[in-house]
Amino acid sequence: MSDATRFILNESDLPKFWYNINADSPVPPNPVLHPGTMEPVTPDFLSVLFPMDLIMQEISAERFIEIPEEVREIYKLYRPTPLLRARRLEKALGTPAHIYYKNEGVSPAGSHKPNTAIPQAFYNKVAGTKALTTETGAGQWGSALSLACSFFDLDLEVYMVKVSYNSKPYRRIFMETFGAQVYASPTDRTNYGRSVLADDPNNPGSLGMAISEAVEAAATSNGAKKYSLGSVLNHVLLHQTVIGEEALKQMDMANEYPDVVIGCAGGGSNFSGIAFPFLRENLKNGKRARIVAVEPTAAPSLTKGVYTFDYGDSAKMAPIVKMHTLGHDFIPPSIHAGGLRYHGMAPTVCALYDAGLISAVAVKQKATFEAAVQFAKAEGIIPAPESAHAIRAAIDEALDAKEKGEKRVILFNLSGHGNFDMTAYEAYLGGGLEDYEYPAEAVQESLKKLPQVQL
Ligand SMILES: Cc1ncc(COP(=O)(O)O)c(C=O)c1O
Repeated sequence: MSDATRFILNESDLPKFWYNINADSPVPPNPVLHPGTMEPVTPDFLSVLFPMDLIMQEISAERFIEIPEEVREIYKLYRPTPLLRARRLEKALGTPAHIYYKNEGVSPAGSHKPNTAIPQAFYNKVAGTKALTTETGAGQWGSALSLACSFFDLDLEVYMVKVSYNSKPYRRIFMETFGAQVYASPTDRTNYGRSVLADDPNNPGSLGMAISEAVEAAATSNGAKKYSLGSVLNHVLLHQTVIGEEALKQMDMANEYPDVVIGCAGGGSNFSGIAFPFLRENLKNGKRARIVAVEPTAAPSLTKGVYTFDYGDSAKMAPIVKMHTLGHDFIPPSIHAGGLRYHGMAPTVCALYDAGLISAVAVKQKATFEAAVQFAKAEGIIPAPESAHAIRAAIDEALDAKEKGEKRVILFNLSGHGNFDMTAYEAYLGGGLEDYEYPAEAVQESLKKLPQVQL
C-alpha cells in the first residue's frame, strides 16, 4: 500500500482504447425498437439522428475500440484525471476503510461529460454534420457539448430543463460563451413543447421532455441537424470507460484493489465509466469487486422501476428500449441533482443489474447533501449534487466497515464539482431542502402508458 494521497498518471498513460462491456457481458443485448412501428430499428432510422460511426459503436461487439488521435489530443487538456485517497475524510469518519475517488470534476466543463461530448462532436464533424441539438438537465452535459462543438466548429442548440435553467443561470452563460443557443424546456419552439405548455404553462420540465424537444428539432430539420445524447446509449457508456481504465492503473499505483466500486446513476454513463473496466476484471480475471449504482429516492429507476420496454423520452419519439423505468411521462420531483431526474436507465446497465452482476441503492436528498458538505469540509471540493449520491454511498460503506471493524477499500467516481450548484447548497444550508419519498402513485399512473410490445 502506498502512503501517497494523489495518484497521477502521465499523458502517455492516457488510454488508447475504450472498453466495450458488450463483448464480455453474459447477458445478450435486447433489441432497440422503432417508437412508431415497434419493430427493431434499422441503422437508417438511427442515421436521421446520429452519424454512422456512432451507430456502429452502438451495436459493436468488439472488446476494445480505438480512440481517435484527434480525440486523445483534446482529452489531454484534462486527462488522465487524478485519483485521490480521501485520507482526511477517512480520518473525519474514524473508519478503518480506505476511500479513493477519481476526480472527473477537473475537466474544463467540470464533469465526466466531455469524455463523450468530444468524440461525439468529432464523429459528427467527420460525417459532415454542421449543427447538433441536445438536452441538458443540470447543465453539465450542455456545457460539455458546448465546448466540444466549439472545438470542432459545430453549431449547438440546447434544450435545458426549465427548473435548472431558472436555478442555474451561470450554466446557461457557460454554454453561451462557447456559442451554444440555450432554451428553457418546455419551449414554444417544438410541437411537443407547445403541447406541454398548452396543458400546463408552468410545467417545470424534465429530462424526458427536453430529450423529446431536442430529438424533434433534429428529426424535423431535413438533415440540417443531428442529435446528441449525454447518457444512456451504448456509445456514451463506451466513451466513459476511460475513467475506469485509468482508475485500474491508479489503484495499482496505490497497491490496492477496490472491494467496492461506486458511481451515481442518472442515465448510467459515469457509473458505467468507472464500473465496466472493473466488471471486466470480475468477469474475466477472477476479481470480486462489488459494483454499486446510486440513485435518488425521488427517481429510483433501478431499485423501484419495472424492467420492461419503454420509450426513452416523454413524447415517444426516441426508440423503445428494455430498461428499468418509472414510465416515460413520469416527471421526477424537482430535486437539486437535475442530472439524476430521468425516468429510465441505460439498457446495458439494466441488463447487468437484472443479471445480478451489479447492485443499486437509492439515497435521500438531505442525507446526500449532508454527505456532500462532510466531503467538502474534509477534501476541499464542493461536489456536484449528482456526485454527492456516490459520496453518500461511499460514506455509508465506510461507516459500515467501521462498525464491523473491517478494512475495506472503497472507490467512487466524483463525477463533477458543484461550483455552479450554489442554489442547491444555499437551499440545503438554509434548511429549505425536502426529502422526496418514492412517488409510488405518480409512477403507477405513468406505468399504465407503457408501450404494448410484442416480440
Ligand atoms: C456531475 C454529474 N454526475 C452524474 C450525472 C448523471 O448522468 P450519468 O448517469 O449519465 O452519469 C450528471 C448528469 O447530468 C452530472 O452532471
